[in-house]
Amino acid sequence: MKNENTYILGIESSCDDTAASVIHNGVVLSNVVANQKIHEEFGGVVPELASRAHQQNIVPVVHQALRRANIDKKQLSAIAFTQGPGLMGSLLVGTSFAKSLAMGLGVPLIAVNHMQAHILAHFIKAEGQAIPSFPFIALTISGGHTQIVKVTDYFDMEILGETIDDAVGEAFDKSAKILGLPYPGGPLIDKYAQLGNPHAYKFTKPRVGDLEFSFSGLKTAILYFIERETKNNPNFISEHLNDICASIQFTIVDYLMDKLKNAVSHTGITQIAIGGGVSANSRVRKALKDAETDLGWITYIPRFEYCTDNAAMIAIVGELKYRNELFSENNIVAKARMKW
Ligand code: KG4
Ligand code: ZN
Repeated sequence: MKNENTYILGIESSCDDTAASVIHNGVVLSNVVANQKIHEEFGGVVPELASRAHQQNIVPVVHQALRRANIDKKQLSAIAFTQGPGLMGSLLVGTSFAKSLAMGLGVPLIAVNHMQAHILAHFIKAEGQAIPSFPFIALTISGGHTQIVKVTDYFDMEILGETIDDAVGEAFDKSAKILGLPYPGGPLIDKYAQLGNPHAYKFTKPRVGDLEFSFSGLKTAILYFIERETKNNPNFISEHLNDICASIQFTIVDYLMDKLKNAVSHTGITQIAIGGGVSANSRVRKALKDAETDLGWITYIPRFEYCTDNAAMIAIVGELKYRNELFSENNIVAKARMKW
């Protein structure tokens, strides 16, 4: 176990955000994210355009992360990068860059699983932020994944259940698209929902296994509902946007909470940590906080900047792996799909 002073550079390029971060002994010195605006006009991420944008952004983003951390690249102890899962063309940019940089500097290369990083982001040290103890249940909710994971140790994780079709972030984004909102629609549904009545409209929650999720039926139900209502009133969406968003959000969050309650009753574990872009959702955050008083759970909610895709979470995993000397060979390859 290495206990020395460490400066780890993390690089994240799995989807449409190019990100770099420097972590020093668990504390974030810099966390730079370049969002790719280009996808908005297409209503979703276009893989070919994403990888091109990563090519453009990666050098300036890494440069800025080092500058904001106020360190020279020669001080870096290791380079951590997202190996997968994600879009292959996007992953290749970060992977190749990380390999070259590690080789050029003569420091270890550390491959990181993106979904594991969303969970281990809870180990970033920050003022006022409690760190979970093992074992805990992690709910990873993003645009690509929806999983309930039992976390026994840093690198001992077991998926207890996951979605059988769409991810929860997709459910938010596809619902938003039906309402004519731009991509990514999740944050917009959240915004309008805050002014609406969550009980205005009722949508049925999909029935699957106790720890499984399904969102495709919900999306179809919302589509049919909107088609029916706009036939009667062409202005239905604009006149009721807040209530529609609040009702959709209520259904999704209630469903997530049902699954967490099942996970708690199956495992007896009452420490719950959330991660992934959808954990930025205000109703998710409130439902978890309420569960502390109502159900006696201990909950861990990451700061906003560590919820959506970022490189600080890659760097913290890099540091944990560095201390355990879990290094990668320089012939390692990016993987679009990967298990733990
Ligand atoms: O983790 P993330 O940044 O990227 C992936 O790995 O997928 O998650 C992005 C997802 C998108 O679907 C986006 O709409 C959703 O997170 N999201 C939200 C909110 N903020 C981001 N969904 C609901 N409410 C939000 N406030
Ligand atoms: Zn993510």
